[in-house]
Amino acid sequence: MFNPDIISWDEHQAFWKNRLSRKDLFSFLILVDGAPNGVLKLDLVKKNDCEIDIFLHPKVQGKGIATQAIKELISFARTKNILKLLARVKPDNISSRNLFERFGFNLKYVLYEYEVKK
Ligand SMILES: CC(C)(COP(=O)(O)OP(=O)(O)OC[C@H]1O[C@@H](n2cnc3c(N)ncnc32)[C@H](O)[C@@H]1OP(=O)(O)O)[C@@H](O)C(=O)NCCC(=O)NCCS
Repeated sequence: MFNPDIISWDEHQAFWKNRLSRKDLFSFLILVDGAPNGVLKLDLVKKNDCEIDIFLHPKVQGKGIATQAIKELISFARTKNILKLLARVKPDNISSRNLFERFGFNLKYVLYEYEVKK
């Protein structure tokens, strides 16, 4: 789910090669003034349900770009007969929560985690 580990260039390339070959995973590059500044991933997790993952370079955050991207994503979803969009967000990720709530996404689950010590 959330993995903060740094990955190698080889792992990165293998990840994208696999991802771009799959029909159930959509990937979009977010261009700002023509330059790539973010990635939006949309994964089919169940029939008609897709999970969103969006990331923007910090230098372009706070300007409404993700808002525009999600607006366009919703239009795209309509063309693909996607009926439900899901987003996993950490509770302290306020800008991300604001982003989805602005569009009317409803809070559906709270995930608890417990580390079992050996
Ligand atoms: C979460 C993330 C995608 C949001 O991107 P963003 O472009 O900064 O998001 P927004 O479009 O909502 O804009 C952020 C703020 O700019 C404000 N803003 C400024 N100009 C704006 C405009 N013209 N239109 C709309 N909003 C504007 C918004 O009101 C918003 O304020 P808020 O967070 O207080 O509600 C970005 O912070 C990010 O990449 N974070 C790291 C990865 C991450 O957490 N991803 C989410 C996991 S799904």
